[in-house]
Amino acid sequence: MRSLLIQGGHIIDPSQGIDEIGNLLITEDEISWLGEGEITLPQPDYDVLRAEGLIVCPGFIDLHCHLRQPGFEEKETIATGTQAAARGGFTTICCMPNTNPPLDNTVVIDYIKLKAILEGVVRVLPIGCISKGREGREIAPMCELASAEVIAFSDDGEPAVDSRLMRQALDYSRVIGLPIIDHCEDTVLTEGGQMNEGIISTKLGLRGIPAAAEEIIVARDLALAQLTGGRLHIAHVTTEGSVDLIRRAKKKGIRVTAEVTPHHLILTEEKVVGYDTNTKVNPPLRTEWDIQALIQGLKENVIDIIATDHAPHTEADKLCEFTLAPFGISGFETALGSLMSLVHDGQLTLSTLISKLTCEPAKIIGNKYGKLGTLASGASADITLFDPDTNWVVDTRGFASKGKNTPLDGSLLKGKVMATISQGKLVYKDDSIAVKES
Ligand code: DOR
Repeated sequence: MRSLLIQGGHIIDPSQGIDEIGNLLITEDEISWLGEGEITLPQPDYDVLRAEGLIVCPGFIDLHCHLRQPGFEEKETIATGTQAAARGGFTTICCMPNTNPPLDNTVVIDYIKLKAILEGVVRVLPIGCISKGREGREIAPMCELASAEVIAFSDDGEPAVDSRLMRQALDYSRVIGLPIIDHCEDTVLTEGGQMNEGIISTKLGLRGIPAAAEEIIVARDLALAQLTGGRLHIAHVTTEGSVDLIRRAKKKGIRVTAEVTPHHLILTEEKVVGYDTNTKVNPPLRTEWDIQALIQGLKENVIDIIATDHAPHTEADKLCEFTLAPFGISGFETALGSLMSLVHDGQLTLSTLISKLTCEPAKIIGNKYGKLGTLASGASADITLFDPDTNWVVDTRGFASKGKNTPLDGSLLKGKVMATISQGKLVYKDDSIAVKES
């Protein structure tokens, strides 16, 4: 494999505290050198990618996405999902187990891993089920799943309703050392719910999903994490109350991490006015007040990471009455552009944003899959290049994902992924990027 020199970019690597204009050399599938100024390479023939004006950072890591394979290939496949991830700057993605069959046994996990090697363009790390069949009754064979190298356990799409099951899962998690990712929702309170509960849901005549439905399960899970000493990760946090609970738990030393999605950071419940089914997501879009608490949570490291919860659905799935539509937003290809609005508005620094997409999720995954989320020498050559200032209009017709279900279609975003390198291979590049021989 020819070496690739990424020249003159603005390198930001929060894992090493690097923020400088410089060059980066990739040899084979590893990062071999990073530095300023001219370099003389031992071999005369290598490729050059000129990166002046671009941010060069570790490849983004997504701890929460839905690839739909096996079972729902009309919504997404590992091939299309990983291509969409590459367009979004993601080089490692962790897929949720709400497939058919669900990821509750080693045969399906091996199938995902093999498919990802054969058809995927970025690294895919599967998440195993907490319960057999995701039915919330009997614990899944967690040790076997761990030996098949799942990176965590979750019944995402559904919470682990049964507290005894959740306790058992957290007990095993302490021994196995992998986190339990919970989708926190009191399903009795949310039954029939369509959107955030408040004045807007009343006006629209849609049944509401109260913030308390999330917070009740967050509080229960934190109590169980304290009881067991297990590792808890709270998926898609959306409310001010949840942020407060996690903040207090972290102060007490409870082993908890948490994530927030780009859509919950930039969109409010007001987007639902008009009944666009692409705004229907679970947990629902909340209020400006909640958004401010989520951003504060990110700044204080109460919320550790940003994860897309990429949830693709077909057009037919969403082309129906609001109450009948499935929950979910297709998120890979708009994540960076959405999140950059927080940087342009001065709410988050670029370095904080990048850390929440790179070294912070890498810490949760651990180093079993090599050095991820860093540009340190010897790390896997997973690199994202983006232009922070390019304006572009979202056009879902150009998405690599089969899921065109985003309320951002037609929106103007500022900040665009220009190239993605996964394990040393250029897996996505914008038309404006050229790779030339030295
Ligand atoms: O909106 C959502 N869609 N939330 C979830 O928890 C599941 C996901 C899906 O699988 O479509």
